[in-house]
Amino acid sequence: MSSTVRERILQLKKEKNAVILAHYYVADEVQEIADYVGDSFFLSKKAKESEASVIVLCGVSFMGESAKILNPDKLVLLPDMNADCAMAHMVDLENIEKVRKQYGDVAVVCYINSTAEIKRRADVCVTSSNAVKIVKALPNKNIYFIPDGNLGRYVAEQVPEKNVILNNGFCPVHHALTLEEVRAAKMAHPAAKFLVHPECVKELLDEADYIGSTSGIIKYVEDSQETEFIIGTEIGVLYELKNKHPEKKFYTLNENQICHDMKYITLEKIYEVLVQEANQVQMEEVCRKEAMKPLERMLELAK
Ligand code: 13P
Ligand code: SF4
Repeated sequence: MSSTVRERILQLKKEKNAVILAHYYVADEVQEIADYVGDSFFLSKKAKESEASVIVLCGVSFMGESAKILNPDKLVLLPDMNADCAMAHMVDLENIEKVRKQYGDVAVVCYINSTAEIKRRADVCVTSSNAVKIVKALPNKNIYFIPDGNLGRYVAEQVPEKNVILNNGFCPVHHALTLEEVRAAKMAHPAAKFLVHPECVKELLDEADYIGSTSGIIKYVEDSQETEFIIGTEIGVLYELKNKHPEKKFYTLNENQICHDMKYITLEKIYEVLVQEANQVQMEEVCRKEAMKPLERMLELAK
């Protein structure tokens, strides 16, 4: 069945001038059919540059929103509208106003893993691959980092000259990984390098040989002479890692390094939304325009 669906998707893609963008956390067969696979920053850049008429965003809803914010005239389709990121909602909007009043000179820095309603209230967006660089470059001393408390704390450590105010959002997948699991994995694989995403807790980051985004982790493996790696992020990255480096060994920390929302995306759903042009991302123009400013500022500052 899947091979037929695959062929039909490829045919429809041509007919409709569509591009398929996928995050590294979606299922292997979806990564395989995508035109581009990448981390959150790469996907927002690709969405902005794309000349396609239709963008099928294989990922969670904030990724579709970001693509629509940057491409108001294109159809942005989400294979599954229920694929959502829990962390993207973990900000109390009233707190943003409170912090702005409390600190006159403050930049509200919003991780891209957030809804458009949150983004529109921010001064700049960041992803895990550019957060340190962008926070460093901002003229403000005070930084209110939302929604991810773990990434915010990591950024604060890297940019000690700033006063970073943290929010208590977190990624349920990364936040659940424990120091005990890391110690057990290191005992079992003493030669392996430990690579971790900054959405994890501090105890894990303190044990890491490398801390970075999904694409940062993939690049580290590519550049490394080492042959064994313990992977401290969602298991979707293993598809790319194993494809590119069949000779290297990869270990996970447990069986549950899975973002189930990302796995909602299937070939059948991609096909269905392409046929019907269903699940179009829509938002009010005022919201879109306001949310576009921090996203475009990110793209500018990350250059
Ligand atoms: P990156 O792809 O930017 O590393 O982010 C990971 C993530 O959790 C995306 O939802
Ligand atoms: Fe959100 Fe975590 Fe899933 Fe990424 S892995 S989409 S941060 S819940």
